[in-house]
Formats: sequence, structure tokens, C-alpha cells
Amino acid sequence: MQSPYLCPMFSTTQKIGVLGGGQLGKMLCLAAAEWDLKTYVLDTSPDYPAGQVCTGFTAGNFNSYDDVLAFGRDMDILTIEIEHVNTDALLELERLGKRVYPSPASLNIIKDKGLQKLFYRENDIPTARFELFDSEKALKEAVRTGKWSLPLVQKTRSEGYDGKGVAIIRTLEDMASKLLPGACLAEELAPIRTEIAVVAARNPSGEVTVFPPVEMDFHPEANLVEFLLCPARISPLVAAEAETLAEHVIRTLDVCGLLAVEMFLTTDGHLLVNEVAPRPHNSGHHTIDSARTSQFQQHLRAICDLPLGSTEQKIPAAVMLNLLGEPGHKGPVHYEGVEECLALDGVHIHLYGKALTSPFRKMGHVTITGETTDEALKKAQIVKNTLKALSLKV
Ligand SMILES: Nc1ncnc2c1ncn2[C@@H]1O[C@H](COP(=O)(O)OP(=O)(O)O)[C@@H](O)[C@H]1O
Ligand SMILES: [Mg+2]
Repeated sequence: MQSPYLCPMFSTTQKIGVLGGGQLGKMLCLAAAEWDLKTYVLDTSPDYPAGQVCTGFTAGNFNSYDDVLAFGRDMDILTIEIEHVNTDALLELERLGKRVYPSPASLNIIKDKGLQKLFYRENDIPTARFELFDSEKALKEAVRTGKWSLPLVQKTRSEGYDGKGVAIIRTLEDMASKLLPGACLAEELAPIRTEIAVVAARNPSGEVTVFPPVEMDFHPEANLVEFLLCPARISPLVAAEAETLAEHVIRTLDVCGLLAVEMFLTTDGHLLVNEVAPRPHNSGHHTIDSARTSQFQQHLRAICDLPLGSTEQKIPAAVMLNLLGEPGHKGPVHYEGVEECLALDGVHIHLYGKALTSPFRKMGHVTITGETTDEALKKAQIVKNTLKALSLKV
């Protein structure tokens, strides 16, 4: 029977190059090892999480044209675990016949939040109203003249992550103290009822799957997701709408591999696309322990043009908790409370292998599975109070 896939050969000798050696790269390499796929990682230090589990490691800077090109020449497929990479080198590698997923063209749109928002506007994808500014001074001027009123959300166009490029400006004092420097965009502050994310996957043959929507509950101080719930506590109708929207976004952006689509469900029941990430995502970590296919295996299936796996949960409820470096602790890490947490049924601990901890650094995550969300949440609260990433010396 002829395979319907564009690249039908499954080969354990093909080399998959991953730009970035953090925890996402590590979990991708671990999933690849299940099928004996060979992974090669480019990052500055082999001591980072992925360096400990990949087939081969190359020391270099994923922002450097020369480093990415030299690394990629040896690979069959290239992918990323972070979007801030040198896309000119990836374009050249694509010209040389390498399979690059996500494509450098879609990466160029996504890594600039301004271009991302313009893309949504041009393609009728619902998103919060916005305007681009060359500098924070221009935004200040727009507020002064009344073109924009407070509250608003300011976002830097590039290099932002984990809330670092986002400022919520509510008052004139915030304007004076919180505005971030440089080219930016202003966005209307959305009346958020729930923040959700849908991880979609697409292979070059055009097959698309979506994981069930997850609900993201944020840490008030760190601006990082603290608890993530799957399924999200939203109506089946809204869930279906979110899945359809995520499928539309991945097809329109022409992304192969994973695309995590972050959305706001507003108080009046509308969905707005906030931002996307074309790679494995924090909001898909629970899938390792709770779904028929993990997001990492799904990404590999997608970039190797293999059939995509089932995205169904194999257990009714999952809660994911980011294990963040304890405030006040900085230095070589040690973990407290692992034994107590492992004694609880349904608790799955993942430690990334970062040698040093610092306040709110992502050191690992824990997925708690259960028969109901309430039951899993109760255990998650115990894990949160028990499991700590501390330094030896405070
Ligand atoms: N337009 C908005 N209205 C209300 N809250 C927002 C808006 N944009 C961002 N936020 C809040 O800030 C968080 C981080 O913004 P986001 O654009 O996702 O940046 P990051 O790349 O740091 O994740 C969001 O998850 C949300 O809680
Ligand atoms: Mg975000």
C-alpha cells in the first residue's frame, strides 16, 4: 500500500537538530529516544538540561548565523525549543534542502509580537485591539493626546517571555515607572474570565490534531503559570470553539510541528488569541503523564511527517504545577519534599537538571492525575507546599 505521507521513510539514522538546550529540548530528546531517533542539540553549554540526554551536542549560539548554518548542514531535520533563533541561517538551510519545522517564514512572524498581531488582524483572527509604536515615547505621546487611554497593556515586540516583555499600565504612575523601553505595541486590557491554551500539531502532509484546551492559573507575583488544569473549566461549546480556532491558526500560519495557541476567554464569552508559540509549550507538559500521546512525541511525529497520535486524555483530570526556584534562594540546587510527594498516588515529578536555582526559575514540573479536577487540585496544593527547589546557602 502506498503511504499517504510526503516523506514516508521512518529512519532511525536521520539526524534531528534542535536549536536550544533547555527543558523543552530535553523532553523532546527523551521522547525521540523512545523510537531511537537521533537528536543533536545546539546551545552554549552541554550542562543545560538537553545536553545531558541528547545523542550529540554542539557548543554554539543559536542566534549566530554561522553557528546555526554550520550546525544545520549536518542535519536532516531542524527544529527549535525557543523562537529567538537566527532565522536567516534557517532560511539558507531550507534553501539547501533541509527540512526546517517550524518554517523560518512563520518563525519570523511569530518571534515579533508586532508582526504576530498584524497577522491576526490581516487574517480575521480575533485578538485584543492594538497599535504598534516605534518607542515607548511614542506610546506615551498617544496617551497624552488621548488617542490611547488607561488601562492598557504594553508589550515589547521581541525577546519577551514569561511575562518579562509585558507591562500592565493602569495609572499615570505606572506610565512613569513601568513602561518598557523600545519598539512596542499597546493592547487593550482584555476582561479575562479564563486564560486557556490549545496545543495544535500539524504535519507536512496537512494532518492537524489539537489537544483539549487547558486552563492557566497565574502566579500573582512571578507572572508565570502556577497551576494548569486539563480539562479547562469551560463549557464544551467554548472548548470546541477554542479547538476550531487553534486549528485555523496553525493552518493559516502554515506551521508544521506544534503550535501552542494562548487565548483569553472574556467575561462576555468571546475568545481572543493572545499569542502563539511554535514549539512544545508549558501548557502541554501534562500530556506526558495524562494523554495518549505526549506533546513531545506529537512534535516528533509532526516534523518527521508521521501519523499524528491521539490527543485524548487517558485519565479524567490532570493538574500541572511548575516547580519554581524558591524566592530568597540562589545557587546550587537541592530539592526538599520529593519523598513525601512520591508517596502520593498520581504524582509525577519531572526535574529538569539545572545545576543552579534562583527565585522563580523553572526547575521542574509536576503533573498530578486524578479522577476529578478537585481531587487533583487538592493534591497539587500539597505538592506546592511540600516540594521546594532550595539552594544550599541562602
Ligand atoms: N491584552 C491583555 N489583556 C489582559 N491581560 C493580558 C493582555 N496581554 C497579556 N496579558 C497578561 O499577561 C500575560 C503575559 O502576556 P503574554 O503576551 O502571554 O506574554 P509572555 O510572552 O510573557 O507569555 C498573559 O498571560 C496575561 O495574563
Ligand atoms: Mg504568554
